[in-house]
Amino acid sequence: MLKLPGLIDPHVHMREPGGEHKEDWDSGTAAALAGGFTLVLAMPNTKPPVTDAATFELTLAAAGGKARCDYAQYLGAGADNAAEAAALAGRAAGLKMYLDQTYGPLRLDDMTLWMQHFERWPADRPIVVHAESRSMAATLLLAGLFDRPVHIAHISLREEILLIRKAKERGLKVTCEVTPHHLFPPPPNPPPNLRNLGEGQGGGGGRLEVRPRLNTPADRQALWDNLDCIDCFATDHAPHTLAEKDGPNPPPGFPGLETALPLLLSAVHAGRLTLDDIILRSYTNPRRIFHLPEQPDTWIEIDPDAEWTIHAVDTFTRCGWTPYEGQPVRGRVTRVVLRGKEAYQEGKVTAEPGTGKNVRMMNEEC
Ligand code: DOR
Ligand code: ZN
Ligand code: ZN
Repeated sequence: MLKLPGLIDPHVHMREPGGEHKEDWDSGTAAALAGGFTLVLAMPNTKPPVTDAATFELTLAAAGGKARCDYAQYLGAGADNAAEAAALAGRAAGLKMYLDQTYGPLRLDDMTLWMQHFERWPADRPIVVHAESRSMAATLLLAGLFDRPVHIAHISLREEILLIRKAKERGLKVTCEVTPHHLFPPPPNPPPNLRNLGEGQGGGGGRLEVRPRLNTPADRQALWDNLDCIDCFATDHAPHTLAEKDGPNPPPGFPGLETALPLLLSAVHAGRLTLDDIILRSYTNPRRIFHLPEQPDTWIEIDPDAEWTIHAVDTFTRCGWTPYEGQPVRGRVTRVVLRGKEAYQEGKVTAEPGTGKNVRMMNEEC
């Protein structure tokens, strides 16, 4: 049995408001605890998206009533909300900017809008950017011109990690994260009943539709080779139901909260990672980059040798599937203690809805 700090996931999609049939703050934070995460940062591409005071309050009210683990909520960068978002910055996880097409309407194409947000958003608060390939290069230019930190979400390509290495060498304030699914490709031989699974590896299609797309072996290898430049592991937990994923227009995204740590621990067992690699990227660095408070009396217990098989039926996420169905893994979460109270034990989430705290409001409560 090993004790680790409660893990932090800086990139999850809770789907509430507007997508509660996929996930809500209750099921999503239960999944977080089952996966060993005691603190999650929630993305703003909900329905409606979180772009102003009214939608921010709506989301925080839902989270306040339902969350079982600690959390904070991002604001989304929109076409005309740079001033309003900046005014709410102190209470937000950070600002999320979508520079490429993905799920939801928040994409910003106009570079003058990017600049407005870089000018207004406080320099000491996090900006997280969904920017792939050349938009990522443009983001690095902005980070340099505005001399401010940016965090690049879910890097997946060799060209991206090579550019980030160069940017870091030149002193740009850039950090980045990688998802488990861009390090550990979902199993290659899907059962025949999983109709679309496996089609279009690297290109998308069916259940494997995700943004950024699943990467090629060469891109994946480049991420492993440059792991020293990757600051965080982040699940990009993006639940969509099986019916949606198997429909004619599958939305992009995978659930990830309950499979991330087992996949990472399996890599430790295989000698590809160390436990310190995980603690650095799932606790120490996220705390520093996102200015997160310590969660007192909070830890997780893991059995690093437990051998088991991933099955969606055993998960707490509402979406009802996982791209890792049937994958054997080694290492499991046995117990989670959050702020002195048991929150998860042996397959049962024991933390009640509403007991999670907004870590950006803790000072106000004291
Ligand atoms: O695959 C993805 N799904 N990538 C994203 O950037 C958004 C996410 C979602 O919200 O479903
Ligand atoms: Zn994204
Ligand atoms: Zn995302």
